[in-house]
Amino acid sequence: LIASVFAASVVRWQRSHGRSELPWQNTRDPYRVWLSEVMLQQTQVSTVLGYFDRFLARFPTVAELATAGEDEVFGLWSGLGYYSRARNMHRCAQEVMARFGGQFPRRSEDLETLPGIGRSTAAAIAAFCFGERVAILDGNVKRVLTRVLGFDSDLSSSASERVLWGMATELLPAASESGAIESYTQGLMDLGATVCMPRKPNCLLCPVNEICVARREGAPEAYPVKTRK
Ligand code: ADE
Repeated sequence: LIASVFAASVVRWQRSHGRSELPWQNTRDPYRVWLSEVMLQQTQVSTVLGYFDRFLARFPTVAELATAGEDEVFGLWSGLGYYSRARNMHRCAQEVMARFGGQFPRRSEDLETLPGIGRSTAAAIAAFCFGERVAILDGNVKRVLTRVLGFDSDLSSSASERVLWGMATELLPAASESGAIESYTQGLMDLGATVCMPRKPNCLLCPVNEICVARREGAPEAYPVKTRK
């Protein structure tokens, strides 16, 4: 598998077939991108759509969220589930004010130090808002990558988790391809959500079907391999 072919194919596909009209796209405002990424961590796009605009209407800036009462934040979150996300969001907003003077930090490394922002969420925000060349690896992306690579180690182990992060980093578009990381990052998410689904992936529509090991083996659903859970 040639990394440059993978990245270039994902970028090209995203630009013509990926999602481009979601309310958290077409902005580089880290507050909006952060809000959407946290909501999307454990909730589907179709559900998040109903909450995102309401939340933003009430709390248009990180400063307003930071000074809000906890009860009101929870009220707006009600129905999204995983309420620790709401508590972490509120705390994160307060830390952005206190530690970063009200501006989200630009580097994924610094974003990761904030409550509720893990490695993949930090990378997504840094890539979308600041063009940082850094890998994401959420559940959808793990599925896409394990299939394309034919990566058959058990994902429940921390060793394979480490290896996969390494592969995700190697597959990034070249540093010389300026402007590619945004489309690439969104493209991986879009592929996982709309083409390379857990069941019955639509390989005929996939931009990397010709280099996909799982497809060649005839059983894409065999990946990812997970025993524990
Ligand atoms: N899931 C996580 N992040 C997403 C994004 N930016 N767009 C669509 N789905 C997502």
